[in-house]
Order: sequence, then structure tokens, then C-alpha cells
Amino acid sequence: MHIDIITVLPELLESPFQHSILKRAQQKGLLKVEVHDLRAYGLGRHQQVDDYPYGGGAGMVMMVEPIARCMEELQARRTYDELIYLTPDGQTLDQPMANALSLQQNLLLLCGHYKGVDERVREHYITREISIGDYVLSGGELAAAVLVDAIGRLLPGVLGDETSALFDSFQDRLLAPPVYTRPEEFRGWKVPEVLLSGNFARIEAWRNEQAERRTRERRPDLLEEEE
Ligand code: ADE
Repeated sequence: MHIDIITVLPELLESPFQHSILKRAQQKGLLKVEVHDLRAYGLGRHQQVDDYPYGGGAGMVMMVEPIARCMEELQARRTYDELIYLTPDGQTLDQPMANALSLQQNLLLLCGHYKGVDERVREHYITREISIGDYVLSGGELAAAVLVDAIGRLLPGVLGDETSALFDSFQDRLLAPPVYTRPEEFRGWKVPEVLLSGNFARIEAWRNEQAERRTRERRPDLLEEEE
């Protein structure tokens, strides 16, 4: 999968993809993330990328032309399955959305800033608008990093154990069960006996029961929603 990200703060996206699972995904050639500095497409001597809003009001608006130039240059290189704008008024990211996006080949992400982007960008270029939750960040960069992480770990071959993403919280509309590692006992706090039993049928049954209980207690809404 190839992901291009357009941002006015490329520095913010230097580190998130250079560690752990996403680093390995890139080393294996399963994922390529390219960050593009919008300022390089800015207008005039000051490489302007934002301006005052028509009609007045506080805050700056990202201009259509630099974004159009940048997007059109990238679109000449590859065909995108989705051109995504990260924005708090987009569709809320969830696991089914991450699963669906992980099946795509080429994604382009646009990070908003200031008061957002000129509406004409959204009308004429963007195919999908995504929010990572009902709160406002100071820009779309951290949201883009979250989205790339959620998608990247799902690409076939990225996780060491191919099946492990299948057991994540939310994959079957259930939260994940508790996990333990050594020692068997710490300050009198014991690991549940069933996990030490070696009886895989019992362990599986216990995990299912715990996942269901946890979901019922913490996120009953997941059990109620239709697929
Ligand atoms: N930009 C600012 N806030 C955001 C959010 N919650 N999700 C996606 N992009 C954003």
C-alpha cells in the first residue's frame, strides 16, 4: 500500500512511522508512507498556504490553489482509491472502516489546519472525510498518524502472527479479553488458573466469556448495534 500525506507540518509526521510495526511494514515493502510539505506548493515569495476567511471571522483558511497543485502533481504519479481529508466533522473512524481501507492500494491524506480548508477542496478533490473522534485537534497530522497506524497493521504480512489482528478488540464487535505473562504470581496476585491448564478448549471458552463480559460491562453499545 502507498500512502501520501499532505501537511503544513511534515516534522510532526517524521517519527510515527519509524518504529515498531509500521517500521517493519515499510522495511518489508508492504507499506510506503510519503509525507509532502504543502508549503512547497505555496503561493508567491512567502509560499503562502492560508488566508483570511471571506465574510470575516477568526482564524485562517487553507487556500485551494496550493492544495490543488500538490494533489494534481501527486495524482499524475498514481491513481488514488481514496482522497481523504482528516476533519472533526468527518465520518468517525472505527475498525470496520480501517479494515475496508486496508484493502486499498493507494491513499492520499490531507491534513487540515487553522480553521480548515477552503470548501472547494472538499467539493472537488476529496472522496472521503474521516474524524478520529468527537474532539478537536490542532491539526489533522495526529489524526493521519492514527489512521495510518490502524490501517498499516492490518496489511497482510505486517503482523508477525498473521492471525493476531483477528483477535483485536472490535474485530468481532467484542473487546479483547485480559492477558497475562510471567510470573504466575506477583505479590500474591495470581494468573487465572485456566490459562496455566494447557487445556486449549477451556482457555478458548474462558477468553470468549471474558471478552463478552468485558463488552457487556464497558461497551454494551457494541452488543446492541447491528452489523
Ligand atoms: N482535525 C482536527 N480534529 C480532528 C479529529 N478529531 N479527527 C480528524 N481530524 C481532525
